[in-house]
Amino acid sequence: MTDDITIKKPTGKLGVLMPGLGAVATTFIAGIAAIKKGISLPIGSLTQLGTIRLGKRTEKRVPMIKDFIELAGINDLVFGGWDIFPDNIHEAALNAGVLRKELLDEVQDEIKEIHPWKAVFDQNYVKKLSGNHVKEADTKYDYAQMLMEDIQNFRKSHGLERMIMVWCASTEIFMKPHPVHETIESFEKAMKENHQAIAPSMIYAYASIASGVPFANGAPNLTVDIPALTAFAKQKNVPVAGKDFKTGQTLMKTILAPGLKARLLGLNGWFSTNILGNRDGEVLDDPESFKTKEESKLSVLEYILQPEVYPDLYNDFYHKVRINFYPPRKDNKEGWDNIDIFGWLGYPMQIKIDFLCRDSILAAPIVLDLVLFLDLAQRTGMKGIQEWLSFYFKSPMHAPEIYPEHDLFIQLMKLKNTLRHLKGEELITHLGLEYYD
Ligand SMILES: NC(=O)c1ccc[n+]([C@@H]2O[C@H](COP(=O)([O-])OP(=O)(O)OC[C@H]3O[C@@H](n4cnc5c(N)ncnc54)[C@H](O)[C@@H]3O)[C@@H](O)[C@H]2O)c1
Repeated sequence: MTDDITIKKPTGKLGVLMPGLGAVATTFIAGIAAIKKGISLPIGSLTQLGTIRLGKRTEKRVPMIKDFIELAGINDLVFGGWDIFPDNIHEAALNAGVLRKELLDEVQDEIKEIHPWKAVFDQNYVKKLSGNHVKEADTKYDYAQMLMEDIQNFRKSHGLERMIMVWCASTEIFMKPHPVHETIESFEKAMKENHQAIAPSMIYAYASIASGVPFANGAPNLTVDIPALTAFAKQKNVPVAGKDFKTGQTLMKTILAPGLKARLLGLNGWFSTNILGNRDGEVLDDPESFKTKEESKLSVLEYILQPEVYPDLYNDFYHKVRINFYPPRKDNKEGWDNIDIFGWLGYPMQIKIDFLCRDSILAAPIVLDLVLFLDLAQRTGMKGIQEWLSFYFKSPMHAPEIYPEHDLFIQLMKLKNTLRHLKGEELITHLGLEYYD
């Protein structure tokens, strides 16, 4: 079945390119430096701490994922990125206020040398931000060429074997797919004409794919999730994934909702509210950026609960998501959920969740796993949308003819079965009748 799958060895250095060196990116980069120094552990990372069961339960074969399949190691990673502010990673991480100063000082030699390159930025797409560390060019196509130069310079100056790009920049305004997003020809023409349907994040995604670099989108912006760029990715043998890292409240939703559905408990309403005080929270305070995030957060329950299949349980449930910018909270978000459910004979019950989480602490291991898995995908010859990485996203990209899979447990099974498939191992179905023959 897998005779024709060859996984190239992960030799040499792997460059990680990040548009947006804010809270998530700096927590990731400083975290890797701390882990390399043996100060901290990569908690939350499937590639570093996860295991995978192989064969029958009686065989007791449960290797670590990183020992099972050919992944690059964290010592191979080299970081680069763009931001509209010129601060180096040490300064930006202090600013973001996620990691303790003492920890950042311990790794400052490793991180203060990383300075962002000038960004491709347009305030029309992120209303609440302005910065002057930005590139100047006549057309969006020219901006893409400048980004491609940065990518090639990074490759050369660090002697990189391969690279991955992960969008960690701010959430852009809500945009609907536009006819210019249909084909790569119409997309390139629109870039040359400075068409407003081409957002900065799309220019980065285009530059990444054109450079043969896999691209993941950590924010809910449309970005690479348009026919022009997914087809371009296939043409260039580049894997892509997105959108919007699944952390915090949505992570909890996709853990809890499958459980309610499994036990056929009904839902009347799910009210989710958040307070957060970081720059992301400030950007999301703008209604147009919030709309992008809201769409991403709202779709989850519909798809998991399938009201059309279970009309008695999930017809007309009320789902509301609010995000409130509250500066004193910084990156330590508080997410409240009030869930009105009903059971046997329709008797009502309530569940309350108060998740005092740390957004970037939850997002950093996702960035690491995406980098390593996208690199694996490319070395294996996988290209275009990588649905097996849905596990990491609030709005997973998927083939046009199917609906997205949001259930965290199905997503994990899909991810692990993909790894088994790549290594020629039997897929796990959990049937298990053979133990009782
Ligand atoms: N748990 C999480 O933190 C989480 C979860 C899901 C999604 N996200 C998304 O990840 C992204 C990053 O989150 P964050 O908390 O690090 O935000 P942040 O505001 O701390 O960092 C974003 C950085 O991007 C920069 N930026 C904005 N536009 C840019 C551009 N065009 N080019 C280069 N840099 C640009 C900003 O200057 C800022 O430094 C956001 O879009 C957020 O919605 C975060």
